[in-house]
Amino acid sequence: VGYVGRDKGQRALDVVMEGLARLEYRGYDSAGVALVGGDRVETAKKAGKLVNLQEELAAHPMPETTTGIGHTRWATHGGPTDENAHPHRGGEDGKLALIHNGIIENFHSLRGELEADGVQFTSETDTEVVAHLLARNYAGDLTEAMRTTVNSLEGAFTLLAVHADSPGTVVGARRNSPLVIGLGEGENFLGSDVAAFISHTKQAMEMGQDQIATITAEGVEVLNFDGTPGEGTPFEVTWDAAAAEKGGYDTFMEKEIHDQGQAVRDTLLGRTDADGRLTLDELKTSEESMRQINKIIIIACGTSAYAGMVAKYGIEHWARVPVEVDLAHEFRYRDPVLDPRTLVVSISQSGETMDTLMAVRHARELGANTLSICNSHGSTIPRESDAVLYTHAGPEIAVASTKAFVAQITACYVLGLYLAQLKGGTYADEAENVLADLHEIPGKIDSLLEDTARIEEIAGFMSDTRSVLFLGRNVGFPIAMEGALKLKELAYIHAEGFAAGELKHGPIALIEPGQPVFIVVPPTDAPHGLHGKVVSNIQEIRARGARTLVIAEEGDEQVVPFADEVIRVPRSTTLLQPLLAVIPLQLFALFLSTAKGLDVDQPRNLAKSVTVE
Ligand code: G6P
Repeated sequence: VGYVGRDKGQRALDVVMEGLARLEYRGYDSAGVALVGGDRVETAKKAGKLVNLQEELAAHPMPETTTGIGHTRWATHGGPTDENAHPHRGGEDGKLALIHNGIIENFHSLRGELEADGVQFTSETDTEVVAHLLARNYAGDLTEAMRTTVNSLEGAFTLLAVHADSPGTVVGARRNSPLVIGLGEGENFLGSDVAAFISHTKQAMEMGQDQIATITAEGVEVLNFDGTPGEGTPFEVTWDAAAAEKGGYDTFMEKEIHDQGQAVRDTLLGRTDADGRLTLDELKTSEESMRQINKIIIIACGTSAYAGMVAKYGIEHWARVPVEVDLAHEFRYRDPVLDPRTLVVSISQSGETMDTLMAVRHARELGANTLSICNSHGSTIPRESDAVLYTHAGPEIAVASTKAFVAQITACYVLGLYLAQLKGGTYADEAENVLADLHEIPGKIDSLLEDTARIEEIAGFMSDTRSVLFLGRNVGFPIAMEGALKLKELAYIHAEGFAAGELKHGPIALIEPGQPVFIVVPPTDAPHGLHGKVVSNIQEIRARGARTLVIAEEGDEQVVPFADEVIRVPRSTTLLQPLLAVIPLQLFALFLSTAKGLDVDQPRNLAKSVTVE
């Protein structure tokens, strides 16, 4: 976060600390601030979550100033200690303070050169190298010093700097890492995303690649790294501060789980015409070229990749186009086969995940069409893709993704149904019915969430559990993996998701008496006799002593004799069931984490938006 205001305006420290609280989900290994006042820069920084810094500031108050920067860290170079926390000071006089996201790849050689010149380092970070370089390049103009400095850096970075001799100014720079400008009246802001300043202004400006922004109370100037004048793209933030608050829930995650009906509803909104046909003008491409698509490759990471795996079943079935799903970091480093008729669909809640961004660039270099499915307006991945379909889930703050996941599946399904509609024929007729069913999903999600007490009780009994397995077939398979991921992320329990059919080929050896296993059971009328096959799988593990926690649709009595617990979800079709079946698994992870006294919204070692590769 960066802020410059006017005298007698807001205190820079208050604005920066509030911004950090809103951005803390991006990293919480340590936090720090730097304030400029008079001809001095003062810093405060602490390892651990923001609350540690708040306590430090209460014990040692900082001066009232109009200019400041602040940072929360997700450690890359050097552990999460006070010394490695940002800001870092630069220059012998320590008049410069710098914060940084990303990785400076040539930091080692730069550090060697600086050390040879007698510079003493106080941390193990790559950031401190930049602080010293910037201080060395400073000759009265912080923007110019930044420009000289960034041109000697390799890697990805967002940098914000203040200098005691340039009061009333914050200079920011970005390459392959996010930075947005907030435009106020008599005050201006910089932030990793708009949440940093949402309670002050909704007027924002996107920065392009390789640009520097200089903010003062009066204005904003954008400059390209090559020294030519740059231009930001203004936009208005469509949500308000309340959307990024807990709204009466104990945690953001619980709130976001309960927002899921709305997330699906909003993602469907405005995408059909008066005749109920899908219209996707956002695709910015002719219907003919969409018809020409002969392969889709979905790239994503984490929960978004599981959304992609669910989507594969739907898109292939309706659109009759082969779909591959790849982890973005794997896609980039293999030799994918694609051509201009391949559509590469990236899925990212944040739109900033570096692995996914690099994979999108790789796909473009190889000549593919790129479409981004994204939840964050103005972020990098949609900006660098040929087209974007936004999921309208609203800001997702909890690190473990929930509402973005159901919105991503919805958006992918809309794409699959649209392709089916373009092609016509039997699948187009089916697509029409599916769309009608999809519109009923939000109501079903809301009703499912009316009573969560039994899942809370089950989680309460299981707080000492050391391992949980998850099984599913077809679209239930990625849901099983997502259920396991949620449990790992939130409750730090060993958890694995398997394809139910694969169990007998190895994993069944893990089953011993008392082993808890969640099983996602398809609807009773699922095609290919799927339901009966999963019921057989439940019997196989129960015969070996597993404790079976069965997620099945209302009215499915066939599972009852083999289930230690049955968790009901409303009836739906097979392909739409993931939008419902994932919810008990999200709730289970939430309640188990709570029962263990863990931090639900900010689990250890994770960050919401991972902007390093
Ligand atoms: C991080 C988060 C996950 C998320 C993944 C992909 O690892 O902790 O919750 O699923 O990034 O994020 P994206 O923003 O690209 O969907």
